[in-house]
Amino acid sequence: MGIEALDDSDLGQVRWMVKVITYGTYDLLHYGHRRLLERAKALGDYLIVGVTADSFDKSRGKINVQQSLMERIEGVRATGLADEIIIEEYEGQKIDDIRRYSVDIFTVGSDWVGKFDYLEEYCKVVYLPRTEGVSSSQVRSNKRKISIRIIEDKGLGRKITHESTWVNGVEVLSPDSGEREDAIYLLSTPQRHYELIKQAINEGKHVMCESPIAMKETECRELFALAKEKNVVLMDAIKTAYATAYNRLLVLVKSGAIGKVISVDSTCTSLMGNYDPENLEGVWGSITAWGPTALLPVFQILGTEYKEKNIVTKYIDPEKKFDGFTKIDFIYPEAVATIKVAKTAKSEGNLVITGTKGYIYVPAPWWKTDYFEVKYENQNQNKRFFYQLEGEGIRYEMVAFSKEIESGVDTSYISEEVSMAISKVMEDWAAKKVNVI
Ligand code: CTP
Repeated sequence: MGIEALDDSDLGQVRWMVKVITYGTYDLLHYGHRRLLERAKALGDYLIVGVTADSFDKSRGKINVQQSLMERIEGVRATGLADEIIIEEYEGQKIDDIRRYSVDIFTVGSDWVGKFDYLEEYCKVVYLPRTEGVSSSQVRSNKRKISIRIIEDKGLGRKITHESTWVNGVEVLSPDSGEREDAIYLLSTPQRHYELIKQAINEGKHVMCESPIAMKETECRELFALAKEKNVVLMDAIKTAYATAYNRLLVLVKSGAIGKVISVDSTCTSLMGNYDPENLEGVWGSITAWGPTALLPVFQILGTEYKEKNIVTKYIDPEKKFDGFTKIDFIYPEAVATIKVAKTAKSEGNLVITGTKGYIYVPAPWWKTDYFEVKYENQNQNKRFFYQLEGEGIRYEMVAFSKEIESGVDTSYISEEVSMAISKVMEDWAAKKVNVI
């Protein structure tokens, strides 16, 4: 029984208030949800509704949720049935909530029968019959799917096709399908991006492009302007940008958790094995393959207005078109940054963000991370953060792309300024504004 007592003055008696709790995603709130909430409310006097947070839901594989957490909370609030709405953020939270709120009854729909019997130790568990014939999944699948065609030089598209199966509302067309696509996912070599993107946008297609969007800053700017004019989405595909851990890290840095940032140091390497220096057509050099990812935290944390940069590169072909190793030092008015990228050299692929109060350390391979540490002089204050990462971030990237196409609202995981600054680095590198080793 709940510990709060209601004073029912009409009757001149004191009776116990029965507290009920229920949890759900409540995406695109429908009749089935409303009926469940009505019956949950009728079980007691006070109804607490736990709405599942995005990150928690992703870890359960529900990546296709269409509405943001705030929209879903609004949906529940609008029913007028919840006395209190809380956010469910972690595995095991239900027990904590039941204790904290002195809950008497836990209830969910019958699709969960048996799953929550373990809570009987803490309160009464009631499974309510699920309403037949309606579900969020069904409402979502009634929406038209966005068809995507993958454009690639080599068989890199398989991973994207596989990952897309996790994302509701998108469909990757098979290479031989004659159907007209709504969008393209561009995986071909960067030197071809500009022409291919321009053509696609002019045909009214949305574009997701493996970064860099273009090999020149002006081209990148022109493509964004063209996309706006034609009312289509042009998105930079850097998987890391869409990963939960990376996004939480950015928020922490911006909130001042490590003080003022003095230095960002990121390294990305992958050995490409045997290669023929005379025949590297279709190969991505170190700067094109890894540059955008390594540059991402630099530009997102320190901005794109650096004062100077110094590029050092090691070519692997006689024509000096491919780099096996490149290092870039940036000088900002009040900070510095270094990136190291390599395909013919191996190093520790970590990310370190140095601040005036502490630092953030992301272990290798940092671009695929689900974990990072915030460290201080006083080690007792150190904190570790862990967020599930599924499919290297590709599926989150696809979700962001489809949401932006549907809503027309900029998801801004990667701003146009950052995409353009990345293209500028490519441009300077290709113009050989480098020191050669
Ligand atoms: N619910 C219900 N009847 C339905 C759909 C949902 O009683 N037709 C209940 C669920 O059992 C759960 C709550 O509503 O207790 C929240 O469900 P949620 O998982 O958010 O919605 P679903 O429609 O089941 O979502 P999905 O299709 O993604 O599984």
